[in-house]
Amino acid sequence: MKLLVTGGAGFIGSNFIRYFLRAHPDAHIVNLDKLTYAGNLDNLSEIESHPNYKFVRGDVADSNLINSILSQPIDAIVHFAAETHVDRSIADAQAFVRTNVLGTYTLLDVAKRKRVGRFLHISTDEVYGSLTADESANEQSHIQPNSPYAASKAASDMFARSFWQTYQFPVVITRCSNNYGPYQFPEKLIPLMITHALHDMKLPVYGDGLNERDWLFVEDHCRAIDRVLEAGRPGEVYNIGFGRPVKNLEVVRLLLRIMGKSEDLIEFVADRPGHDRRYALDTGKIRAELGWEPAVGLEQGLAETVEWYRNHPDWVERTRNGEYLTYCEKFYRNRDATLPQL
Ligand code: NAD
Ligand code: TYD
Repeated sequence: MKLLVTGGAGFIGSNFIRYFLRAHPDAHIVNLDKLTYAGNLDNLSEIESHPNYKFVRGDVADSNLINSILSQPIDAIVHFAAETHVDRSIADAQAFVRTNVLGTYTLLDVAKRKRVGRFLHISTDEVYGSLTADESANEQSHIQPNSPYAASKAASDMFARSFWQTYQFPVVITRCSNNYGPYQFPEKLIPLMITHALHDMKLPVYGDGLNERDWLFVEDHCRAIDRVLEAGRPGEVYNIGFGRPVKNLEVVRLLLRIMGKSEDLIEFVADRPGHDRRYALDTGKIRAELGWEPAVGLEQGLAETVEWYRNHPDWVERTRNGEYLTYCEKFYRNRDATLPQL
């Protein structure tokens, strides 16, 4: 199996590459990543000289580059690359439109022409919008994105769908709930709360803290992607989630308990504009059809995540002061600029 992974220097992509090379020692992976602020080659330092792994710095919206990469035989694409932070999309969504919409379209278009055998598009539960207390979204539910981030992901998700419907290009779409775990950039809820609490800084909880998310440990997501890659049916959508939405305040309190810190650190701050109240997924399809189940409960996953951040102060410090950007620049400059041969 020869894979092109996009966005593999980010949180889920880097966890996926490490997981996949462990689970499939014969697999080959090319990682295409633009190295935005969210892409960090530190995340992949343990496999950077793995014989079956190659890194290419570049943009998924660059059709010439994609064309050159796909001139080598690639069996499947796993497309993670995206702008991903809701708060940034509220401030300015330009990059979200460019990467998430135009970038996905470009990748689909070149991959179709190169007859790539499988295209796994990594989407999100945020495309279903905010749900009420007794609702959960299944794969047929309405797409009702509310934030500019969710709108850009919904647009890319619909382009992926259209390539199956129109050209029978073998696209499979996954829509996963919120992930957490090692290597998540500390602008997202869980790593932000952990890194603040480690330094006894205030934990900013938006609004009343009663918004709900269905938190999934990142390695469970990686195993689900592996199953979909292996056995997901072309043209289908698979929801992925733990199956138990939890209020933000409950997550933050649990973290403080695990870390032995006082709840006095919690600070309620102004709410996010258009803040979705509740995400909830019906994940019956992937469980019944592909036999996937999450293995890590929230308390265990949070404890492991806290432990990881505690044991990686240098990683945290470098993301906070931007040092890793210099590291990535150096890494890239020292690399042979020719495209990798698989
Ligand atoms: P992330 O922000 O940590 O990483 C994104 C990666 O994409 C970075 O390495 C960045 O450098 C790269 N990238 C950005 N623009 C690019 C471009 N134009 N060309 C090439 N690379 C580019 O994101 P993440 O949290 O790992 O999410 C990965 C994917 O999973 C995204 O598509 C996201 O929408 C989806 N998703 C995330 C979650 C979550 O909770 N994090 C949940 C469901 C789905
Ligand atoms: P986030 O990690 O940004 O993921 P998403 O918005 O994609 O679900 O936020 C998760 C939840 O945590 C969301 O309801 C917003 C909330 N939140 C806070 O309360 N404080 C924060 O500092 C952050 C970053 C998020």
